Amino acid sequence: MPRPVPTTNPAGAAAENFDAINIKDMDLLLKGGTLIDGTGRRRGDVLVRDGRIAAVGPDIVEASGVRTLDCGGKMVSAGFVDVHVHFREPGQRYKETIRTGSLAAAHGGYTTVCAMPNLDPVPDSPDTLALEQEIIDRDACIEVLPYAAITRGRKGLEPVDFAALKDRCVAFSDDGSGVQRDGMMLQAMTEAARQEVILAAHCEDNALLHGGYIHDGRYAAAHGHKGICSESEWGQIRRDLALAEQTGCRYHVCHISCSESVGLIRQAKARGVRVTCETGPHYLTLCEDDLQEDGRFKMNPPLRRAEDREALIEGLLDGTIDAVATDHAPHSAEEKSRGLAGSAMGVVGLETAFPVLYTALVIPGRLPLERLIEALTDGPRRAFRLPGGLRPGEAADLTVIDPDAAWTVDPADFLSLGKATPFAGQAVRSRIVLTLKDGEPVWQA
Ligand code: DOR
Ligand code: ZN
Ligand code: ZN
Repeated sequence: MPRPVPTTNPAGAAAENFDAINIKDMDLLLKGGTLIDGTGRRRGDVLVRDGRIAAVGPDIVEASGVRTLDCGGKMVSAGFVDVHVHFREPGQRYKETIRTGSLAAAHGGYTTVCAMPNLDPVPDSPDTLALEQEIIDRDACIEVLPYAAITRGRKGLEPVDFAALKDRCVAFSDDGSGVQRDGMMLQAMTEAARQEVILAAHCEDNALLHGGYIHDGRYAAAHGHKGICSESEWGQIRRDLALAEQTGCRYHVCHISCSESVGLIRQAKARGVRVTCETGPHYLTLCEDDLQEDGRFKMNPPLRRAEDREALIEGLLDGTIDAVATDHAPHSAEEKSRGLAGSAMGVVGLETAFPVLYTALVIPGRLPLERLIEALTDGPRRAFRLPGGLRPGEAADLTVIDPDAAWTVDPADFLSLGKATPFAGQAVRSRIVLTLKDGEPVWQA
């Protein structure tokens, strides 16, 4: 598969010690970095051979034919995994393509992403999934794993043929909308349990929306906006947790945004329900008090109360939340230009996730770096049964981070076609300086 490598660095940074490398058909030694995973950090080297991690150790000796990269002062992690992105192809190439989305992911340190199925055509049959896979095989510079829909056309009326699709997709989701009918969800979970596949649910009860588009809280009341109540999310999670318990289905909750959702999932995990969940960088760092009259603050679910943000951080700390996923949801500038009421739902996130979380949570001591790395690597891998990790024998999917870099988020630097982010103009620390996919650089600063 061709892996397009960006030759320019739109962020304009020139990190010392990271001159252009061409490692094709050569071993590569990442020397003297701080190796980080969920279990801790240690000084060490990583030897990459034939696209795989050949060795990880404190002092790997440089041999001839080995290209050495000085990682002194840098952190080396397994490549990040985002189980929730929207790449818009096939169907809406003006918003994002598999190529631009995967380049943006590489820029953000990601080597594997799972692509949501609100596409045109919806990947709900072997043929439509094959069409998406063809584009992925042709254009993706990292691993892009497609979701299949839960229901035909994502209409919520008839389940897809899980058995016919399960070998072609990473999991099943109707993301973009919740499965409204209880009977439909029961049927889908029963079949998902039988097929041993993962159902990833966007939880949203349409009956409770009443035309809302930001959180139904202080800001909406003060500025005359229509609100979305938290129950529209946690009510459906509560229903699904009961169904998952009843059916034994592997159930993943997408983008949880409120304190009640954290509590319900914490309790369900404690009683053995097979549930995992994710939240996004924006829910962990922002709340309704940060809202501005601008479409770049609009996403679904919405930014909620400060107490919700705190409960999400708590849930990430205690393991209730398995993964940070961006819900990278690019739209055109015009679609995001109509303020809070009129703009499309969704913000981009792949190119800011790590620096934003590192700056807002790790530097102030609210979240250990190891826990953040785990939520970006082994957490999502475990939840979605994906291979990989910072261990000999695994694919050389690696992310090198400069923790000291300081820069300001400017959407003009994004490789994504989507530019709408609530973090525009924010000063951040840390930068992804190198992303290796199967040992090959797919991003380098
Ligand atoms: O903000 C969102 N954007 N939430 C969704 O559920 C869908 C997504 C999109 O596809 O744009
Ligand atoms: Zn969603
Ligand atoms: Zn989504």
